[in-house]
Amino acid sequence: MTSMPSIAEIARGPWSTATWFGPEGEATLAGVPLVRIAQQFGTPAYVLDETDVRLRCRTYRTALPGAEIAYAAKAFLCRAMADWMRAEGLSLDVCSGGELAVALSAGFPAERIIFHGNAKTTHELQTAVTEGVGRIVIDNLAEISRLAALVPLGRRQKVLIRVIPDITAGAHAAVRTGREDQQFGLSIATGAAGDAVARVLAQPALQLAGLHCHLGSQITTALPYEAAARVMVEQMARIRETHGVVLPELDLGGGHGIPYLQGEQGLEVTGFAQRLTTAVEERCAGLGLPLPRLIVEPGRAISGPAGLTLYRVIAVKKGLDRTYVAVDGGMSDNPRHALYGSPYEARLIGRRSQGGMRDVTVVGHHCETGDTLAEGVPLPADVHPGDLIAVAATGAYHHSMASTYNLTGRPPVVAVGPSGPRLIVRREEPEDLMRRDVGL
Ligand code: LLP
Repeated sequence: MTSMPSIAEIARGPWSTATWFGPEGEATLAGVPLVRIAQQFGTPAYVLDETDVRLRCRTYRTALPGAEIAYAAKAFLCRAMADWMRAEGLSLDVCSGGELAVALSAGFPAERIIFHGNAKTTHELQTAVTEGVGRIVIDNLAEISRLAALVPLGRRQKVLIRVIPDITAGAHAAVRTGREDQQFGLSIATGAAGDAVARVLAQPALQLAGLHCHLGSQITTALPYEAAARVMVEQMARIRETHGVVLPELDLGGGHGIPYLQGEQGLEVTGFAQRLTTAVEERCAGLGLPLPRLIVEPGRAISGPAGLTLYRVIAVKKGLDRTYVAVDGGMSDNPRHALYGSPYEARLIGRRSQGGMRDVTVVGHHCETGDTLAEGVPLPADVHPGDLIAVAATGAYHHSMASTYNLTGRPPVVAVGPSGPRLIVRREEPEDLMRRDVGL
């Protein structure tokens, strides 16, 4: 591993800690020129800084020493990533049979897996039980008896119950999951959460380990987490009053924000950890409740800033009002601007630029005007076909949300670690796409 940057350093900017930009257009990641990565692996390509990922895991473990840190695999999972998480002592939050299968195939310990989902199929539940998944998160009432029926006689499956704390937080309506009237979790207000607790406690095949909530995504202050912690501890106290049961675990989900643009601030992990711990301790003390073991589930904050995407410029076109820079990727490798209007930072790399900067719209190669990667981003005025550009903070929710729209194969993932760059997910080729197409 390279020497560890400080927490203040890793909280800075949207580029991974080991990214360096030189005055002549040089751009390196952990000392490896990005131009060389583009030459070796082609474009578009996702590049992931392994050291940065591991460093972020350690930051969480240091900030919350008594807590369980479960990486949210939906942000980005492949076998190498599962391996790094195992090695760093993290648990894994999975939300589908696919994520579970990848984790298990990488040898990730099943007992350190937490299985989420608002619509888990019987097959998924069965696999989770059979494989010995540590905790399954109950998300609806019917799931309780469905799950219990799958547990072999003599065994008990640990579960958490996902509760709606009714707190609005998150960067976009599509990623706010902590308030009433959305499809995740069980409502305290309607009585469903209380009902779920009673039903789980009545099932000998299930063991209620604790409560869970997830507020939403891209949250940059500790405030909503403190509020959620109080609501959740109060629920735990109510459960003790009603059922005489003290629950040992409290999972407060993920959603920790990162910067996508220079000057933006992500959630500062150490401060967040202190405030969260204090909120839980104070509320527990007030209610005379023993402290539960905390669980947090960061996804984006572990893998997001460690990633960047390399694109080749294919065309530059001047419109009436804007200049369009079209690259060889697009909404198939990054749908986030199209879905949430998310902003991005892009940089020309690999050569010195002659002119000044001008704002451009970076678009992809897909057949629709919504295929925009970044709007109003400053790039050198002389940007031209053949140039390479790098887009920051694409390590989370990019590869995992990529599609094969227009039958474009998904880009590879290249990890840059202490021993240099290596391919951890290969490029999807037309042959891969045709393998699924069984024809007439
Ligand atoms: N735990 C649960 C139960 C979740 O549903 C999620 C994310 C996380 C943890 C991790 O959240 P994170 O720390 O990564 O924000 N596609 C969207 C993000 C959707 C997140 C869904 N759930 C995006 O690209 O912004």
